[in-house]
Amino acid sequence: MSTVARTDASHIAVHWKEEDYVQPSPKFVGQANLSDPAVVERFKEEHFPECFREYADMLAWDRYWHTTLDTSNPPFWKWFVGGTLNACYNCVDRHLAKYKNKAALIFVPESETEPTYTLTYQELYIRVNEVAAVLRDFCGLKAGDRVTIHMPMILELPITMLACARLGIVHSVVFGGFSGEAAGLRAADSGSRVMVYADAYYRNGKLIDHKTSADIAVQTAANEGQTIDKVLVWRRKDGQDLSNTAMVSGRDYYMEDLLERFRRAKVAPVSVGAEHPLFLMYTSGTTGKPKGCQHRTGGYLAYVTGTSKYYQDIHPEDVYWCMADIGWITGHSYIVYGPLALAATSVIYEGVPNYPDAGRCWRIAEQLDVNIFHTSPTAIRLLRKAGPDEPLKYNYRFKHMTTVGEPIEPESWRWYWEVVGKREAVIVDTWWQTETGGFLCTTKPALDPMKAGSTGPGALGIYPIIYDEHGKEIPAGAGRAGNVCIRNPWPGIMQTIWKDNDRFVRQYYSKYCKDPKSTDWRDWPYFAADGAVLAGDGYYRILGRVDDVINVAGHRLGTKEIESACLTVPQVAEAAVVPVVDEIKGRMPAIYASLKPDVTDGAHVSEQIVATVETIIGKIARPKAVHIVPDLPKTRSGKIMRRILAAISNRMDTGDVTTLANPEIVEQIRKQVQGEGPVELQEGPEDVKRFGEQE
Ligand code: WTA
Repeated sequence: MSTVARTDASHIAVHWKEEDYVQPSPKFVGQANLSDPAVVERFKEEHFPECFREYADMLAWDRYWHTTLDTSNPPFWKWFVGGTLNACYNCVDRHLAKYKNKAALIFVPESETEPTYTLTYQELYIRVNEVAAVLRDFCGLKAGDRVTIHMPMILELPITMLACARLGIVHSVVFGGFSGEAAGLRAADSGSRVMVYADAYYRNGKLIDHKTSADIAVQTAANEGQTIDKVLVWRRKDGQDLSNTAMVSGRDYYMEDLLERFRRAKVAPVSVGAEHPLFLMYTSGTTGKPKGCQHRTGGYLAYVTGTSKYYQDIHPEDVYWCMADIGWITGHSYIVYGPLALAATSVIYEGVPNYPDAGRCWRIAEQLDVNIFHTSPTAIRLLRKAGPDEPLKYNYRFKHMTTVGEPIEPESWRWYWEVVGKREAVIVDTWWQTETGGFLCTTKPALDPMKAGSTGPGALGIYPIIYDEHGKEIPAGAGRAGNVCIRNPWPGIMQTIWKDNDRFVRQYYSKYCKDPKSTDWRDWPYFAADGAVLAGDGYYRILGRVDDVINVAGHRLGTKEIESACLTVPQVAEAAVVPVVDEIKGRMPAIYASLKPDVTDGAHVSEQIVATVETIIGKIARPKAVHIVPDLPKTRSGKIMRRILAAISNRMDTGDVTTLANPEIVEQIRKQVQGEGPVELQEGPEDVKRFGEQE
């Protein structure tokens, strides 16, 4: 399988100019958590793995560990072995002495007529205890059991997560925008018998009935052989029924009612081993089946706490707003666990960034005096397009901003810096993944200059490397792209794929493992499945995925998952999904489908395909285009050439097609998609050019 990025030096030279350095302001540097350059020395390779004590020491341990890193069974690393702790205690209880009356979470409803709601650390403590009592004493759940949480961005989501963590229950949060079917499949895979829902939520001015998804999820799980015996339903508004879906007697319970029985209940935090799993987070990979990334308690919490402190520069006095959804890894690590472990005030916003208008984010920032802001390039592009001058109208001051999830074009970066950050806020461009728990590459905000469009050097204690397809290192400044890998283990790396150790090894370690028998971590580089270029100054520029994953608005979608969904439409014979460049969302899926011989009504099938994709996966997978074509381009051995379809959708050169089994179809599809006349060909971004290369 060839998954390497294009290594054509001239190409990269033409399309990438080194941007100038931008220095952080002295004001930021003066107050930064990480301002002593000696930290670089402390995290050098000769101090690995003990350097990560610095992060673990930011936590309260019930029992201190005896071994920082156990490498005896690679790549199943163990961190802080022998230690015990509780994640909820670290995020809530331990702050009470000093910060009980300080805001822990501030909920901002989408509607501006509904007031914001602040939860202090004391209130969070009370509520988490009560919910833990429901989970333990009403549901009969205990440490190690799994609970699937399919909820929107409301306070009760982190409350439920923390209640699970208090008991050592492994939570699996499914992004609220995923469909009931997607949630049900994940619940079945994790072996959850309890699901937690919200009845409804507001999005883009509309009330979404979310409880309907619960019924579909339970049915889907049942079809997979997993019984969900309890569905706990939070009400978005106390005492009001916002959902039209009936509660199923003996299965569905309003949390509100259950909590009546557990008023003021106290549940002692369960001390778990450092390696006890804290949560699962399902993500898309190269096959149709999402994988449950399993994260450990001690290493994960240490890593997100340390990186939140050093790279997000969170102090307890800060008001920190990460606009991601808690249903993704960014929300887990950098809305909930990292910030709360540092006693921060973390803002949770229910809605979309530009509702009801392009000034909304900046009004929230002004009203709450947010000083740390964290979002994705898609949101930045969207806000810029909707209101390029809006930030200037509001009196807020960010000291720090993050961009995460996709590569950012220097032009959008500059708007973020100049207009949103008012040339005062330092920017970190953090590159990482669901699998990695926390940041892999980023600048140290007070110590390294920023460079638009580049993420930065490896984070402290992370030693990245770029390999070519043959495992040869591509050195800094070579001007060639390759596969970015991490040479060493770190505390935030996932433990395994839930119930699938083989897939874990295969997917992330087999490609560049130097010796499968070795217990030396140096023989086990982590393969990230991203293409990257390393500049002479040690800054990485991430080019995008080298596998079948497409990054839609910073969210990972597997093209194979979408194809599987298309194939459930009875009229569809074959389907291929490719990325197409979108001005705002970065990439979107385009679907090519051929129909079974007796089908005539193509237009109708297109609609059905869109509806089916939304039902099986969710609205985020809605395609930019569906093309019903007479046939798909194939090799003589019958493989679909997705690379050619990606080229057509993006007006790129389709290359040599003469060796195909059906070369004539390419021109036919091209005319259908691009129109009759000749079109101006485009160069296209790296990930699109590489897409489908492995076929
Ligand atoms: C991409 C999100 C460029 C990358 C935290 C990665 C990025 C995938 C960046 C993981 C960045 C993430 N610059 N690309 N700063 N951050 N990516 O698992 O392709 O949802 O592999 O985790 O997003 O997406 P995931």
